[in-house]
Amino acid sequence: MDLTELNRIATAMVAPGKGILAADESSGTIKKRFDAIGVESTESNRRDYREMLFRSREAMSQYISGVILYDETIWQDAKDGTPLVKLIESSGAIPGIKVDEGTQGLPMCPGELVTVGLDKLAERLKKYYERGARFAKWRAVIDIGSGIPSMTAISVNAHALARYAALCQAAQIVPIVEPEVLMDGDHDIDRCYEVTQRVLNKTFQELRVQRVALEGMVLKPNMAISGKKCAKQAPVEEVAEKTIRLLKACVPAAVPGIAFLSGGQSDEEATAHLNAMHKLGPLPWGLTFSYGRALQAAPQKAWSGKAENVAAGQRAFSHRARMNGLASKGEWQS
Ligand code: 13P
Repeated sequence: MDLTELNRIATAMVAPGKGILAADESSGTIKKRFDAIGVESTESNRRDYREMLFRSREAMSQYISGVILYDETIWQDAKDGTPLVKLIESSGAIPGIKVDEGTQGLPMCPGELVTVGLDKLAERLKKYYERGARFAKWRAVIDIGSGIPSMTAISVNAHALARYAALCQAAQIVPIVEPEVLMDGDHDIDRCYEVTQRVLNKTFQELRVQRVALEGMVLKPNMAISGKKCAKQAPVEEVAEKTIRLLKACVPAAVPGIAFLSGGQSDEEATAHLNAMHKLGPLPWGLTFSYGRALQAAPQKAWSGKAENVAAGQRAFSHRARMNGLASKGEWQS
Protein backbone atom coordinates (compact mmCIF):
# COMPACT_ATOMS: atom_id res chain seq x y z
CA MET A 1 0.00 0.00 0.00
CA ASP A 2 1.28 3.46 -0.96
CA LEU A 3 -0.29 5.67 1.71
CA THR A 4 1.21 8.88 0.32
CA GLU A 5 -0.63 8.26 -2.97
CA LEU A 6 -3.89 7.31 -1.21
CA ASN A 7 -3.64 10.51 0.81
CA ARG A 8 -2.97 12.54 -2.35
CA ILE A 9 -6.12 11.16 -4.03
CA ALA A 10 -8.28 11.59 -0.90
CA THR A 11 -7.10 15.19 -0.56
CA ALA A 12 -7.85 15.89 -4.24
CA MET A 13 -11.38 14.49 -3.79
CA VAL A 14 -12.16 17.19 -1.22
CA ALA A 15 -10.17 20.09 -2.74
CA PRO A 16 -11.70 23.50 -1.85
CA GLY A 17 -14.28 24.57 -4.44
CA LYS A 18 -14.84 21.01 -5.65
CA GLY A 19 -16.87 17.97 -4.64
CA ILE A 20 -18.03 14.57 -5.79
CA LEU A 21 -20.82 13.66 -8.20
CA ALA A 22 -22.58 10.51 -6.95
CA ALA A 23 -23.81 9.03 -10.25
CA ASP A 24 -23.79 5.46 -8.97
CA GLU A 25 -27.52 4.78 -8.84
CA SER A 26 -28.17 1.07 -9.13
CA SER A 27 -30.36 -0.12 -12.04
CA GLY A 28 -33.37 -0.11 -9.70
CA THR A 29 -32.75 3.42 -8.41
CA ILE A 30 -32.06 5.00 -11.82
CA LYS A 31 -35.28 3.41 -13.09
CA LYS A 32 -37.17 5.25 -10.34
CA ARG A 33 -35.49 8.54 -11.35
CA PHE A 34 -36.23 7.93 -15.05
CA ASP A 35 -39.85 6.96 -14.29
CA ALA A 36 -40.28 10.38 -12.69
CA ILE A 37 -39.26 12.13 -15.95
CA GLY A 38 -41.02 9.68 -18.25
CA VAL A 39 -37.87 8.08 -19.68
CA GLU A 40 -37.52 4.35 -20.24
CA SER A 41 -34.58 2.89 -18.31
CA THR A 42 -32.70 1.14 -21.12
CA GLU A 43 -28.95 0.62 -21.17
CA SER A 44 -28.52 3.20 -23.95
CA ASN A 45 -30.69 5.82 -22.20
CA ARG A 46 -28.68 5.36 -19.01
CA ARG A 47 -25.49 5.76 -21.06
CA ASP A 48 -26.78 8.86 -22.89
CA TYR A 49 -27.83 10.48 -19.61
CA ARG A 50 -24.52 9.88 -17.88
CA GLU A 51 -22.55 10.86 -20.97
CA MET A 52 -24.42 14.17 -20.91
CA LEU A 53 -23.28 14.77 -17.32
CA PHE A 54 -19.65 13.74 -17.91
CA ARG A 55 -19.43 15.96 -21.00
CA SER A 56 -20.59 19.03 -19.02
CA ARG A 57 -17.31 20.85 -19.41
CA GLU A 58 -17.85 23.67 -16.94
CA ALA A 59 -19.07 21.44 -14.11
CA MET A 60 -16.59 18.64 -14.65
CA SER A 61 -13.45 20.73 -15.07
CA GLN A 62 -14.13 23.32 -12.36
CA TYR A 63 -16.41 21.94 -9.64
CA ILE A 64 -16.33 18.14 -9.73
CA SER A 65 -13.33 16.38 -8.18
CA GLY A 66 -14.55 12.82 -8.72
CA VAL A 67 -17.47 10.77 -9.99
CA ILE A 68 -18.88 7.64 -8.34
CA LEU A 69 -19.94 5.16 -11.01
CA TYR A 70 -22.13 2.07 -10.97
CA ASP A 71 -20.70 -1.20 -12.31
CA GLU A 72 -22.60 -0.95 -15.60
CA THR A 73 -21.30 2.58 -16.26
CA ILE A 74 -17.63 1.90 -15.61
CA TRP A 75 -17.61 -0.59 -18.51
CA GLN A 76 -19.69 1.58 -20.88
CA ASP A 77 -18.42 3.62 -23.82
CA ALA A 78 -19.74 7.00 -24.98
CA LYS A 79 -21.61 7.13 -28.30
CA ASP A 80 -18.35 7.81 -30.15
CA GLY A 81 -16.66 4.80 -28.55
CA THR A 82 -14.63 6.64 -25.87
CA PRO A 83 -14.86 4.83 -22.52
CA LEU A 84 -16.90 6.95 -20.09
CA VAL A 85 -14.02 6.58 -17.61
CA LYS A 86 -11.75 8.36 -20.12
CA LEU A 87 -14.24 11.22 -20.47
CA ILE A 88 -14.11 11.72 -16.72
CA GLU A 89 -10.32 11.53 -16.59
CA SER A 90 -9.88 13.94 -19.49
CA SER A 91 -11.97 16.56 -17.66
CA GLY A 92 -9.56 16.33 -14.73
CA ALA A 93 -11.93 14.45 -12.38
CA ILE A 94 -11.17 11.12 -10.70
CA PRO A 95 -13.27 8.03 -11.51
CA GLY A 96 -14.65 6.04 -8.56
CA ILE A 97 -16.87 2.99 -8.21
CA LYS A 98 -19.68 1.86 -5.93
CA VAL A 99 -18.72 -1.64 -4.80
CA ASP A 100 -21.35 -2.63 -2.27
CA GLU A 101 -24.08 -4.94 -3.55
CA GLY A 102 -26.99 -3.36 -1.71
CA THR A 103 -28.70 -4.31 1.51
CA GLN A 104 -30.37 -7.39 2.98
CA GLY A 105 -32.61 -7.79 6.01
CA LEU A 106 -30.55 -8.32 9.16
CA PRO A 107 -31.49 -11.62 10.82
CA MET A 108 -33.04 -11.26 14.31
CA CYS A 109 -33.37 -7.50 13.83
CA PRO A 110 -36.78 -6.74 12.31
CA GLY A 111 -36.78 -3.69 10.06
CA GLU A 112 -33.00 -3.33 9.99
CA LEU A 113 -30.54 -3.85 7.13
CA VAL A 114 -26.98 -4.93 6.55
CA THR A 115 -24.96 -4.02 3.45
CA VAL A 116 -23.49 -6.96 1.55
CA GLY A 117 -20.80 -7.45 -1.11
CA LEU A 118 -17.57 -8.46 0.64
CA ASP A 119 -17.30 -11.86 -1.08
CA LYS A 120 -14.83 -11.64 -4.01
CA LEU A 121 -14.42 -7.91 -3.35
CA ALA A 122 -10.61 -8.12 -3.56
CA GLU A 123 -10.81 -9.52 -7.11
CA ARG A 124 -13.41 -6.95 -8.18
CA LEU A 125 -11.30 -4.08 -6.82
CA LYS A 126 -8.34 -5.25 -8.89
CA LYS A 127 -10.41 -5.11 -12.10
CA TYR A 128 -11.84 -1.70 -11.22
CA TYR A 129 -8.35 -0.34 -10.55
CA GLU A 130 -7.19 -1.58 -13.96
CA ARG A 131 -10.17 0.19 -15.55
CA GLY A 132 -9.16 3.47 -13.85
CA ALA A 133 -11.06 3.65 -10.55
CA ARG A 134 -8.99 5.33 -7.84
CA PHE A 135 -11.65 5.44 -5.14
CA ALA A 136 -14.66 3.35 -4.13
CA LYS A 137 -17.86 3.70 -2.15
CA TRP A 138 -19.73 1.41 0.26
CA ARG A 139 -22.98 2.62 1.82
CA ALA A 140 -24.35 1.30 5.10
CA VAL A 141 -27.94 2.24 5.95
CA ILE A 142 -29.14 2.91 9.49
CA ASP A 143 -32.81 3.66 10.02
CA ILE A 144 -34.24 5.56 12.99
CA GLY A 145 -37.55 4.33 14.36
CA SER A 146 -39.17 3.11 17.50
CA GLY A 147 -36.61 0.86 19.23
CA ILE A 148 -34.13 1.11 16.35
CA PRO A 149 -31.31 1.27 15.47
CA SER A 150 -30.10 -1.68 17.53
CA MET A 151 -26.47 -1.90 18.55
CA THR A 152 -26.43 -5.11 16.47
CA ALA A 153 -27.22 -3.22 13.25
CA ILE A 154 -24.72 -0.46 14.02
CA SER A 155 -22.03 -2.98 14.86
CA VAL A 156 -22.38 -5.34 11.85
CA ASN A 157 -22.58 -2.43 9.43
CA ALA A 158 -19.50 -0.75 10.93
CA HIS A 159 -17.64 -4.06 10.76
CA ALA A 160 -18.48 -4.47 7.05
CA LEU A 161 -17.51 -0.86 6.29
CA ALA A 162 -14.11 -1.42 7.88
CA ARG A 163 -13.61 -4.76 6.07
CA TYR A 164 -14.38 -3.01 2.79
CA ALA A 165 -12.11 -0.05 3.60
CA ALA A 166 -9.15 -2.28 4.44
CA LEU A 167 -9.61 -4.28 1.21
CA CYS A 168 -9.73 -1.02 -0.79
CA GLN A 169 -6.53 0.32 0.68
CA ALA A 170 -4.77 -3.00 0.06
CA ALA A 171 -5.86 -2.60 -3.59
CA GLN A 172 -4.55 1.01 -3.69
CA ILE A 173 -8.07 2.45 -3.85
CA VAL A 174 -9.32 5.22 -1.52
CA PRO A 175 -12.43 4.04 0.35
CA ILE A 176 -15.37 6.39 0.79
CA VAL A 177 -16.81 5.16 4.07
CA GLU A 178 -20.54 5.94 4.05
CA PRO A 179 -22.59 5.15 7.13
CA GLU A 180 -25.91 6.81 6.25
CA VAL A 181 -28.39 7.51 9.02
CA LEU A 182 -31.61 8.00 7.06
CA MET A 183 -33.63 11.20 7.36
CA ASP A 184 -36.92 9.32 6.82
CA GLY A 185 -39.18 9.42 9.86
CA ASP A 186 -40.50 11.96 12.34
CA HIS A 187 -37.53 12.10 14.74
CA ASP A 188 -36.04 15.47 15.63
CA ILE A 189 -32.52 16.75 14.96
CA ASP A 190 -31.27 15.79 18.43
CA ARG A 191 -32.25 12.15 17.93
CA CYS A 192 -30.45 12.20 14.57
CA TYR A 193 -27.40 13.69 16.33
CA GLU A 194 -27.41 11.04 19.02
CA VAL A 195 -27.79 8.10 16.60
CA THR A 196 -25.21 9.48 14.16
CA GLN A 197 -22.76 9.92 17.04
CA ARG A 198 -23.13 6.24 18.00
CA VAL A 199 -22.76 5.18 14.37
CA LEU A 200 -19.64 7.29 13.72
CA ASN A 201 -17.98 6.25 16.97
CA LYS A 202 -18.53 2.57 16.23
CA THR A 203 -17.37 3.01 12.62
CA PHE A 204 -14.09 4.65 13.63
CA GLN A 205 -13.56 2.02 16.32
CA GLU A 206 -13.87 -0.73 13.67
CA LEU A 207 -11.64 1.17 11.23
CA ARG A 208 -8.94 1.28 13.89
CA VAL A 209 -9.34 -2.40 14.84
CA GLN A 210 -8.96 -3.35 11.17
CA ARG A 211 -5.91 -1.08 10.71
CA VAL A 212 -7.43 1.20 8.09
CA ALA A 213 -5.18 4.23 7.53
CA LEU A 214 -7.37 7.23 8.27
CA GLU A 215 -5.10 9.41 6.09
CA GLY A 216 -6.17 7.41 3.05
CA MET A 217 -9.98 7.54 3.31
CA VAL A 218 -12.91 9.92 2.89
CA LEU A 219 -15.96 9.89 5.19
CA LYS A 220 -19.40 10.32 3.61
CA PRO A 221 -21.86 11.01 6.43
CA ASN A 222 -25.35 12.40 6.75
CA MET A 223 -25.79 15.80 8.34
CA ALA A 224 -27.37 16.21 11.78
CA ILE A 225 -30.82 17.10 10.50
CA SER A 226 -34.53 16.79 11.39
CA GLY A 227 -36.42 13.75 10.12
CA LYS A 228 -38.41 14.53 6.98
CA LYS A 229 -41.71 14.07 8.79
CA CYS A 230 -40.71 15.90 11.98
CA ALA A 231 -43.12 18.74 12.72
CA LYS A 232 -40.26 21.00 13.83
CA GLN A 233 -37.66 21.40 11.07
CA ALA A 234 -34.34 22.72 12.41
CA PRO A 235 -33.19 25.88 10.59
CA VAL A 236 -30.03 26.01 8.44
CA GLU A 237 -27.83 27.51 11.18
CA GLU A 238 -28.81 24.80 13.67
CA VAL A 239 -28.12 22.00 11.17
CA ALA A 240 -24.70 23.54 10.44
CA GLU A 241 -23.78 24.12 14.07
CA LYS A 242 -24.86 20.66 15.28
CA THR A 243 -23.30 18.84 12.32
CA ILE A 244 -19.92 20.51 12.86
CA ARG A 245 -20.06 19.89 16.62
CA LEU A 246 -20.87 16.22 15.96
CA LEU A 247 -18.15 15.74 13.35
CA LYS A 248 -15.52 17.46 15.49
CA ALA A 249 -16.39 15.10 18.34
CA CYS A 250 -16.27 11.92 16.22
CA VAL A 251 -13.96 12.34 13.21
CA PRO A 252 -10.19 12.38 13.80
CA ALA A 253 -8.24 15.18 12.11
CA ALA A 254 -6.13 12.53 10.34
CA VAL A 255 -9.07 11.99 7.96
CA PRO A 256 -8.35 14.24 4.94
CA GLY A 257 -11.93 14.87 4.03
CA ILE A 258 -15.64 14.62 4.66
CA ALA A 259 -18.10 14.67 1.73
CA PHE A 260 -21.79 14.71 2.62
CA LEU A 261 -24.61 12.75 1.04
CA SER A 262 -27.74 14.80 0.34
CA GLY A 263 -30.13 12.09 1.53
CA GLY A 264 -33.35 13.61 0.22
CA GLN A 265 -32.73 17.27 1.08
CA SER A 266 -33.81 19.71 -1.64
CA ASP A 267 -31.09 21.06 -3.93
CA GLU A 268 -31.00 24.43 -2.22
CA GLU A 269 -31.10 23.05 1.32
CA ALA A 270 -28.14 20.79 0.61
CA THR A 271 -26.19 23.78 -0.73
CA ALA A 272 -27.24 26.13 2.10
CA HIS A 273 -26.27 23.63 4.81
CA LEU A 274 -22.78 23.03 3.40
CA ASN A 275 -22.25 26.76 2.97
CA ALA A 276 -23.33 27.54 6.56
CA MET A 277 -20.90 24.95 7.92
CA HIS A 278 -18.00 26.73 6.25
CA LYS A 279 -18.95 29.91 8.10
CA LEU A 280 -18.00 28.03 11.30
CA GLY A 281 -14.39 27.33 10.28
CA PRO A 282 -11.52 26.77 10.42
CA LEU A 283 -12.21 23.04 10.16
CA PRO A 284 -9.74 20.18 10.70
CA TRP A 285 -10.65 18.32 7.49
CA GLY A 286 -11.76 19.19 3.95
CA LEU A 287 -15.56 19.48 3.94
CA THR A 288 -17.57 19.19 0.74
CA PHE A 289 -20.40 17.46 -1.11
CA SER A 290 -20.86 14.00 -2.59
CA TYR A 291 -24.40 14.56 -3.75
CA GLY A 292 -26.57 12.35 -5.92
CA ARG A 293 -30.09 13.72 -5.94
CA ALA A 294 -29.15 17.31 -5.00
CA LEU A 295 -26.90 17.54 -8.09
CA GLN A 296 -28.99 15.56 -10.54
CA ALA A 297 -32.66 16.39 -9.93
CA ALA A 298 -32.41 19.61 -12.00
CA PRO A 299 -30.48 18.17 -14.98
CA GLN A 300 -32.77 15.13 -15.08
CA LYS A 301 -35.80 17.37 -15.36
CA ALA A 302 -34.21 19.66 -17.95
CA TRP A 303 -33.06 16.69 -20.08
CA SER A 304 -36.19 14.53 -19.85
CA GLY A 305 -34.65 11.99 -22.22
CA LYS A 306 -34.59 14.26 -25.29
CA ALA A 307 -31.45 14.74 -27.39
CA GLU A 308 -32.41 18.36 -28.09
CA ASN A 309 -32.36 19.07 -24.33
CA VAL A 310 -28.76 17.95 -23.73
CA ALA A 311 -27.42 21.52 -23.59
CA ALA A 312 -30.16 22.52 -21.12
CA GLY A 313 -29.40 19.47 -18.96
CA GLN A 314 -25.71 20.37 -18.93
CA ARG A 315 -26.49 23.97 -17.99
CA ALA A 316 -28.67 22.78 -15.09
CA PHE A 317 -25.96 20.40 -13.89
CA SER A 318 -23.22 23.02 -14.18
CA HIS A 319 -25.35 25.49 -12.22
CA ARG A 320 -25.87 23.11 -9.26
CA ALA A 321 -22.22 22.05 -9.37
CA ARG A 322 -21.12 25.71 -9.28
CA MET A 323 -23.47 26.53 -6.38
CA ASN A 324 -22.14 23.58 -4.38
CA GLY A 325 -18.56 24.43 -5.35
CA LEU A 326 -19.12 27.91 -3.88
CA ALA A 327 -20.75 26.40 -0.78
CA SER A 328 -17.69 24.21 -0.26
CA LYS A 329 -15.78 27.45 0.34
CA GLY A 330 -18.54 29.24 2.25
CA GLU A 331 -18.96 31.65 -0.68
CA TRP A 332 -22.48 30.79 -1.80
CA GLN A 333 -25.16 33.50 -1.65
CA SER A 334 -28.82 32.51 -1.63
P1 13P B 1 -27.88 11.35 -2.32
O1 13P B 1 -27.04 12.60 -2.31
O2 13P B 1 -28.98 11.35 -3.33
O3 13P B 1 -28.30 10.94 -0.93
O4 13P B 1 -26.92 10.18 -2.85
C1 13P B 1 -25.63 10.13 -2.41
C2 13P B 1 -25.19 8.73 -2.36
O5 13P B 1 -24.22 8.35 -2.97
C3 13P B 1 -25.94 7.81 -1.48
O6 13P B 1 -25.24 6.62 -1.35
